[in-house]
Amino acid sequence: MAHHRLHHRLQLVCLVAVVLTAAPAAHAIFHFDFRLDTDSPFFGRSARASRYDTWRRAALESNARQARRLAKALGKLSGAAAPAPAPADATTDIAAADVTISPYTHQGHCLTVGVGTPPQPSKVILDLGSDLLWTQCSLVGPTAKQLEPVFDAARSSSFSVLPCNSKPCEEGTFTNKTCTDRKCAYENYYGIMTATGVLATETFTFGTHHNVSANLTFGCGKLANGTIAEASGILGLSPGPLSMLKQLAITKFSYCLTPFADRKTSPVMFGAMADLGKYKTTGKVQTIPLLKNPVEDIYYYVPMVGISLGSKRLDVPEDALAIKPDGTGGTVLDSATTLAYLVEPAFKELKKAVMEGIKLPVANRSVDDYPVCFELPRGTSMEKVQAPPLVLHFEGDAEMSLPRDSYFQEPSPGMMCLAAMQAPFEGAPNVIGNVQQQNMHVLYDVSNGKFSYAPTKCDSI
Ligand SMILES: *[C@@H]1O[C@H](CO)[C@@H](O)[C@H](O)[C@H]1NC(C)=O
Ligand SMILES: *[C@@H]1O[C@H](CO)[C@@H](O)[C@H](O)[C@H]1NC(C)=O
Ligand SMILES: *[C@@H]1O[C@H](CO)[C@@H](O)[C@H](O)[C@H]1NC(C)=O
Ligand SMILES: *[C@@H]1O[C@H](CO)[C@@H](O)[C@H](O)[C@H]1NC(C)=O
Ligand SMILES: *[C@@H]1O[C@H](CO)[C@@H](O)[C@H](O)[C@H]1NC(C)=O
Repeated sequence: MAHHRLHHRLQLVCLVAVVLTAAPAAHAIFHFDFRLDTDSPFFGRSARASRYDTWRRAALESNARQARRLAKALGKLSGAAAPAPAPADATTDIAAADVTISPYTHQGHCLTVGVGTPPQPSKVILDLGSDLLWTQCSLVGPTAKQLEPVFDAARSSSFSVLPCNSKPCEEGTFTNKTCTDRKCAYENYYGIMTATGVLATETFTFGTHHNVSANLTFGCGKLANGTIAEASGILGLSPGPLSMLKQLAITKFSYCLTPFADRKTSPVMFGAMADLGKYKTTGKVQTIPLLKNPVEDIYYYVPMVGISLGSKRLDVPEDALAIKPDGTGGTVLDSATTLAYLVEPAFKELKKAVMEGIKLPVANRSVDDYPVCFELPRGTSMEKVQAPPLVLHFEGDAEMSLPRDSYFQEPSPGMMCLAAMQAPFEGAPNVIGNVQQQNMHVLYDVSNGKFSYAPTKCDSI
């Protein structure tokens, strides 16, 4: 039945970003330190899309992400060796073939990077759930519609295709990989879309006023089906082998997301610039371990051990939240998912606590996939409603306190809905989405396996 829930709700998330930086140029590759500013999904767009639409669309997109993440977690899509889809049953419902693609979306943060020599602009989605950096490329065309002109490798003096026996081709984990004409042709499935391409190397330029360049392995590709909204590709920052972090030996990165509805840019920092102590925070910095998925290098996991609504600790056993030896469960952070996902026992308890704690009538009508909504008094907006913080507890007594706006949204006027839903399948992880992370500076210290966070006014750093 989870199958049905996903079926009609797949959209992606584009962390639409534009680079407007003021980062010091880094000259040595060993100090690859820079800052980028990502656009919020609606940065620079007309104000026509209402805040309600923004939120609703983002919620829909969340489900697509979850489908993909799950498919990967359950090993259905973890590379060329993945078993062929079995006849339909509850577990194979998440296979690629079952995921319909919706024709639109927006819910991530994108960066504009320069590809090639001279640089051609490309808008890429920031994604913590995949490692490959890829952009649509006319070499493998015809490509899907995008805002910028498609990258033309023939106009770049620094482009070269990687052979099948290259290290990235051998090490990379793709949904499928084939060698044709000595080219490393890949296919990757992203929940709401499939991308194909060939591995290549190219010079990338990051930044605008001050910029840094680096030679990177990337995917010269195209969207095979689905959509990446107006973006041209994806910048994968997962722990996987092909990520730019691994290629450039970048030891840490941080970002601070402004709330969607503010339509402001959000900074992303790499290297030495990623340091919470260097920027103003509005609360204390807390640090917890970053965990690895024991089965594959996907996502960054954190040791969540409990949840409270205000001062009321929910009755959720700690081991229900833990990552299992087979790679299922656990808690991940995602930059490109909007809603929070909670495993069944946690979601049930949260729903109960919210229904008891929020003194508003529970709505009978529903808005898209939001599982719990309240009717706001006529003429009142959500801002007037008092709600206790949702507190995530981590190993070592660390806490992440989420204010009302990080776990409630008003996707339709007069409806205040919980921005969290039940993880759709057995084995799916808890997900801390980008709405939960808004106005919080989060730092991934990948070399030391630590995650730090502090409440921060993201538009002021
Ligand atoms: C991988 O690609 C090859 C060649 O296109 C195709 O024959 C094969 O069915 C694909 N495998 C999967 C699992 O999609
Ligand atoms: C890099 O910076 C220089 C000046 O610092 C500028 O002329 C150039 O256009 C920038 N390149 C890109 C791709 O932004
Ligand atoms: C990229 O590689 C080319 C060719 O090897 C080299 O000339 C260039 O300096 C490199 N660029 C960077 C930024 O490392
Ligand atoms: C999406 O593209 C992939 C690869 O070309 C293909 O295997 C799959 O059937 C396509 N899915 C849909 C829904 O068109
Ligand atoms: C929801 O439906 C129930 C029974 O149908 C009704 O009593 C209740 O007033 C409704 N709630 C709202 C907010 O309309």
